Amino acid sequence: MSEPIAHDYLESFSPGRGREAPRAAFTSDAPVLDLSGQWRFHLAAGLPQAAEGFQAAGFDDSGWETIAVPANWQLDGLPGEPRFGAPAYTNQIYPFPLDPPHVPDANPTGEYRREFTLPGQWPGGRTLLRFEGVDSCFAVWLNGSLLGDGKGSRLPTEFDVTDALRPGRNILAVRVHQWSAGSYLEDQDMWWLSGIFRPVALVSRPAGTLADFFVHADYDHLTGQGTLSVHTEAPARLTVPELGITDADPAGPHRLRRLDPWSAEQPRLYDGELVTDGERIPLRIGFRRIEVRDGLILANGRPLLFRGVNRHEWNPDTGRTLSHEDMLTDVLLMKRHNINAVRTSHYPPDSAFLDLCDEYGLWVVDECDLETHGFGLVGWEGNPSDDRRWREACLDRMRRMVERDKNHACVIMWSLGNEAGHGSNLEAMAQWAKGRDPDRLLHYEGDDNCSYTDVYSLMYVEYGELGLIGRRQDVVTRDPAQDARRRAMPFILCEYAHAMGNGPGGLSEYQDLFESHPRLHGGFVWEWIDHGIRRRTPDGREHFAYGGDFGEPVHDDNFVCDGLVFPDRTPSPGLTEYKKAVEPVRITVDTTARTVRVRSHLHTLDTAHLRFCWRVEDDGQLQGDAEFAVPPVAAGTAAELPWPEALTTLCDAARKEGEERWVTVTAELARDEPWAPAGHEIAWAQAALAGPEAAAPPTGRPLAPVRTGDKYALGPAVFDAVSGTLLSLAGLRTDGPRLDLWRAPTDNDLRTWGGPVAEAWRKAGLDRLEHRVLGVRPHDTGLEVVTRTAPAGADFAMRTEYRWETDAEDPGQLRLTLTAKPVGSWPCPLGRIGIRMALPQSIETVDWFGLGPGEAYSDTTSAVRVGRFSADVDELQTPYVLPQENGNRREVRRAHLTDRAGGGLIITASPYVDLTVRRWTSADLDNARHTTDLRPHPRVYVNLDAAHQGIGSGACGPRVQPQYELIARPVTLTIGFRPC
Ligand code: GAL
Repeated sequence: MSEPIAHDYLESFSPGRGREAPRAAFTSDAPVLDLSGQWRFHLAAGLPQAAEGFQAAGFDDSGWETIAVPANWQLDGLPGEPRFGAPAYTNQIYPFPLDPPHVPDANPTGEYRREFTLPGQWPGGRTLLRFEGVDSCFAVWLNGSLLGDGKGSRLPTEFDVTDALRPGRNILAVRVHQWSAGSYLEDQDMWWLSGIFRPVALVSRPAGTLADFFVHADYDHLTGQGTLSVHTEAPARLTVPELGITDADPAGPHRLRRLDPWSAEQPRLYDGELVTDGERIPLRIGFRRIEVRDGLILANGRPLLFRGVNRHEWNPDTGRTLSHEDMLTDVLLMKRHNINAVRTSHYPPDSAFLDLCDEYGLWVVDECDLETHGFGLVGWEGNPSDDRRWREACLDRMRRMVERDKNHACVIMWSLGNEAGHGSNLEAMAQWAKGRDPDRLLHYEGDDNCSYTDVYSLMYVEYGELGLIGRRQDVVTRDPAQDARRRAMPFILCEYAHAMGNGPGGLSEYQDLFESHPRLHGGFVWEWIDHGIRRRTPDGREHFAYGGDFGEPVHDDNFVCDGLVFPDRTPSPGLTEYKKAVEPVRITVDTTARTVRVRSHLHTLDTAHLRFCWRVEDDGQLQGDAEFAVPPVAAGTAAELPWPEALTTLCDAARKEGEERWVTVTAELARDEPWAPAGHEIAWAQAALAGPEAAAPPTGRPLAPVRTGDKYALGPAVFDAVSGTLLSLAGLRTDGPRLDLWRAPTDNDLRTWGGPVAEAWRKAGLDRLEHRVLGVRPHDTGLEVVTRTAPAGADFAMRTEYRWETDAEDPGQLRLTLTAKPVGSWPCPLGRIGIRMALPQSIETVDWFGLGPGEAYSDTTSAVRVGRFSADVDELQTPYVLPQENGNRREVRRAHLTDRAGGGLIITASPYVDLTVRRWTSADLDNARHTTDLRPHPRVYVNLDAAHQGIGSGACGPRVQPQYELIARPVTLTIGFRPC
């Protein structure tokens, strides 16, 4: 009979018992037995329901279920129904009472058992059992013997199993608790998920192996020399063939002449080996120096500009268990989108991710698994960060992160955690880390005194304030004694540009500030990926679930979906926009001076790895293109070059009247890189050589409308004589057009800081406009329709004149000149100003000349360029996890909306119109909670807008900048309609 289990560890402040000292993550040729796979599993509702004696070797688990290890147990069974509990999402609020260190009795408890056979040749000596991550607290038995317990979900824990291990068959039993004292330290804004979610392995550490080592690889940019010393806790020999180090004392120090430093742009790693009597350990060494000097963050002597993202670990099917492919996909996508830095929000990632960052090149801010945000909701009363009883737990987390990751060249800053208030435990963590690793910087955002950090860091700062910080004119610190120190510090935005739903808008203005103030070292977009969970509707259609979809009584809705990539890692338009906003090489095409200016914001590389090309297009049709020799521009410098002769000649060539001529200059990879093939575009710029020109006033002989019964006919069009509504166009049945001022609110409209703009729209009644016809007047020159549009109860309105015209010389063309003018004072910015109409559902394809290929709004226009594009109606939609306004194509000059047979409508605008085409209405988008709620209507809805409200990132950050606010104002739209 086994002893009853004492569960005192569960609600103890202690980080764990029976554990090994933390050490670096490394591989070696010493044997490892991977224990991933199917384990026996039983989920108990709480401790009283747990299986008695489950840890005994002879326990009968034949009636239990099985589960994958590693995995989060709540996701087992999805996208169908979860088999074990259910995921729950909260942002700040703890999903249990604030009663530290206690947790509710209803504490789901996962019991795992796994039988394994020790390989015959397993060496004698020590063997460790290593868990890379178990959420949130666990105890472990091998063959019935208790090994110990642990907390700290996103950190490794090792136990010495030497005495408990048997030859042949062994039984491992692990009891995992969803809630524990540790949960109070893990209140990150994410799904609450439990279980053994990272790999488990048996690791042989026979005599003569190394417990730990610390690689110090410094680079002196002034001399170009490096210094290498590897501190080992037992005798070892070091070999690094490329550096001429053979079988040497690892501690050195080895002074190395002329080596290539490691940087995100040039991630040079030197392969080496540490050899002891017991094993050979491969090393990948990157030499670099990171420091703060004269108030700036320098890497290898040069200032750093972070083009960063905050990365949570996420997969829509497996939660926080990531495959190697997931991690590689993240790294490749980041590199391909000009991203150079990652903050591992808000916990150390699977260490395989850091291996990839070393190899492909990303600067990493490694963040500790610590957040106590929910205490902020009670005024930080009882915050563990400032309570002595939690000191050891906090220190333990910091030690385990630093020790595990200390040999990664990519890690340049340690972050104490996120949103954990301030207090003495954070200070103790900082002090310990500085003592252990003085060669890296320390980051923590939550203490604005910055008394124990090396950088000043804030989140979601508004543009004006950021400019002040850039000029070192920031507000005085909470503790004035710290002011001078903080004012001298470099600054980063550890979170900004909240990427929830459609957006973020206003990226370029942030980038302008970063690039004009040396103190500002850039920032990290919040965040990389939407944490949506893949689910299926009863009829088998897939969508992504968010907070509340699993019946959680307390939750934060879709605030968990705020990434630059969708849950399945498809890039969202926000990522494309970010790529352009942060392009490391800025190209300016000067059409007057006929030069191209190249300004490099690269850190290390000159531009020799890039190939520059130019292209000239008339109305989107290629006229000529060629490569263009740009002598290498050194990092941080600029060059101005005259246009190549061929470009000048082409620009001066005759063109068809009325056509727009544009020149595009691109910078692309000249050679294959490990992360993208040759030809991958890095940066581009466009400039107009001719046009767009305002259309010449019509010179034809205008036709007068002809009344027949209750209809007017005018050229290809038929109008209702009473309402003035366009009914058909060359036989194509139309509804409208009619004035539209509203859009389905975006996440930023719905949650705007300082008062949601969507609420103001609803209050004002933008979504329920009433239309009154003031007059339908036939003229010799066309048909004039005047309307007044206003919401119920409002004394403000829009007065709209529709002038419909057609010429005798071109009777197939119908022209609309629409003038809308506000009457009275509108209480809020408008969503859009334009018209909406409906066309037959047979319309399938849109070909347009304008900005594209992606969606764009007034403050998300960096990534789109002038050209000819084509897309199916379905492809024009962006499937934001919460349906909302999307898919707008800006500055469209001409669009063909066609059916399969090529019939349909040609829309022309003078000069431009914003265009959206979809199979559902704004109201449908607004009502839908998930993408699967959107069902095509038997109509195609077309919006033609003169203007849109900007996007911003107000769901968590500053409101839309004033220049992008759509204040009610008079607009004119000139649009032509013609059947195809
Ligand atoms: C920050 C926090 C993040 C996330 C974000 C909003 O305050 O650090 O974890 O919650 O806000 O999405």
